[in-house]
Amino acid sequence: MEETLAIVKPDAVAAGFVGKILSRIEEEGFRVRGLKMVHLREGEARLFYGVHRGKPFYESLVAFMTSGPVVAIALEREDGVAHWRRVMGVTDPASAAEGTLRSLYGTTVQRNAVHGSDSVENGVGEINFFFNTLEKT
Ligand code: RTP
Ligand code: MG
Repeated sequence: MEETLAIVKPDAVAAGFVGKILSRIEEEGFRVRGLKMVHLREGEARLFYGVHRGKPFYESLVAFMTSGPVVAIALEREDGVAHWRRVMGVTDPASAAEGTLRSLYGTTVQRNAVHGSDSVENGVGEINFFFNTLEKT
């Protein structure tokens, strides 16, 4: 079993897609181990996406991720990291395969509805960033 962190980003929360995305998570056979809505502050968003510091889209990404509440979800499934990334689709919704969450609910390369960890190691780190031991089963 692998854990991975999913985030419903501010665009998809504002557009009312939390329920549909949670349904898809259950349909795909993930177990939800932790779930919460938070409004990231600037410093937290900078830290979370720190790997992208210096890239042309970094400042705009931080502004977007702090623009409204997000829903963080700790997921568990066999092959969980890769499976969640398949369910999300590629970064740009315009290129994402039909039926993927980014194709369905994303609008631009930045406003792409969902986040997913990119490795098992980062999944553990990202879940620990959002959830303490009491908040996760
Ligand atoms: P994520 O980390 O959010 O799951 O997305 P990802 O792995 O598919 O993409 P990544 O390269 O890690 O980028 C993180 C997020 O930054 C925004 N972005 N904007 N060219 C651009 O304007 C651009 N590129 C990336 C997206 O919100 C992307 O998900
Ligand atoms: Mg990424």
